[in-house]
Amino acid sequence: MDPILAATHADPYPYYAQLRAEGGLVFHSQLNVWVASSAQAVAAVLENPVCHVRPSNEPVPHAIANGMSGKVFGQLMRMNEGERQRCPRSAIAPGLKGIDAQEVEALVGARLITADAAGLYNAMFRGPACVMAALLGYSPAQGRAISELTRDFVACLSPLSTHTQLTAAHTAAEQLSGYFVELLEDPDNHSPLLSGIRQRFTGGTPEMLIANLIGLFSQTFEATAGLIGNAILTLIKNPSVLREPAQIDDLLAEVQRFDPPVQNTRRFVVAPCEINGISLKTGDVILVLLASANRDPQLNNTPDAFMLDRPNRRSFTFGAGHHQCPGQNLALSIASATLRQILKKKPVLERLSWDYRPSLNGRVPVFSDTRQV
Ligand code: HEM
Repeated sequence: MDPILAATHADPYPYYAQLRAEGGLVFHSQLNVWVASSAQAVAAVLENPVCHVRPSNEPVPHAIANGMSGKVFGQLMRMNEGERQRCPRSAIAPGLKGIDAQEVEALVGARLITADAAGLYNAMFRGPACVMAALLGYSPAQGRAISELTRDFVACLSPLSTHTQLTAAHTAAEQLSGYFVELLEDPDNHSPLLSGIRQRFTGGTPEMLIANLIGLFSQTFEATAGLIGNAILTLIKNPSVLREPAQIDDLLAEVQRFDPPVQNTRRFVVAPCEINGISLKTGDVILVLLASANRDPQLNNTPDAFMLDRPNRRSFTFGAGHHQCPGQNLALSIASATLRQILKKKPVLERLSWDYRPSLNGRVPVFSDTRQV
């Protein structure tokens, strides 16, 4: 096991506990990265202004730098610091916060969900992007096309992607960009979310706005699928945990802490600094184990117990500091509405088997119908 393999391991949590016991911030010589595993170290790294989201000598990964997906990547708030982060974020984050859970419920409810593995795949991966598309004013058909393109585009975010996947990601970035050019020119668009974002977006270029609208889809795609999937896994492993549908929000609140879809993120040190009494130098890389911090007894009492009614729950699943996820409420609303629809169909969960999607940081199960009961 190592801290990256842990993300898709069947049970990485004892290993994370071992890492915390070795010290909250420890150098991993095989991976050549610092590993922050305690809640204190994770918080300190995420709050530190010289720990950046990208290395200064490679703002865009070399593998995609010469294509359209690299152009989009280079303008995402998620991948920038300073004004290039603040400008799109100040336009977009307030809009995401204000989305009404009932509107999300209605959009999810309008989609056809079936209880087999193919239906779950659609509900987890296509559904959330279709909700995002509808909120921005796209038609259902456009939403479906955009969710397919998002699947191709997100390949550019993973170092595991092949050359063929990266070529498809560039094409998808071109097409997504075309969809947004059309959306921004459409006089009949009445999306309050989009008009609020446009009003607040001052000082950036149209390309920056479009890149960050594409970013809403890529950020939604895997993480929200993972939250829904990990909630289903919890119900497979422990069917009695949910006594009534009214507890779905409590279930998701605990699942996101207990078994998060985003297990880790990274930071790149751009100036010498000291964290938890340890001196770090320019160029150091820190792997920030969000999922481990959630299980730190310093953060949550009896952290390895799964408790729907956990008092004072604390979690790093959605990050912290100035890059903290602005889509948290929306993700939880989409996941809650989706899970409610799935459970209404009374799926035979024991029949499902699953594998985690190959990833260095995502814990996203994909289900199949093969298991015998
Ligand atoms: C369960 C679902 C989700 C999880 C676990 C999640 C998690 C995260 C995390 C950990 C970060 C911070 C990364 C870092 O600091 O290195 C982040 C950033 C971000 N997330 Fe989410 N996210 C989820 C869903 C969403 C959704 C639905 C949206 C948009 C609609 C969204 C939009 C963003 C954006 C734009 C950022 C970058 C913010 C910035 O850099 O200022 N996320 N997310």
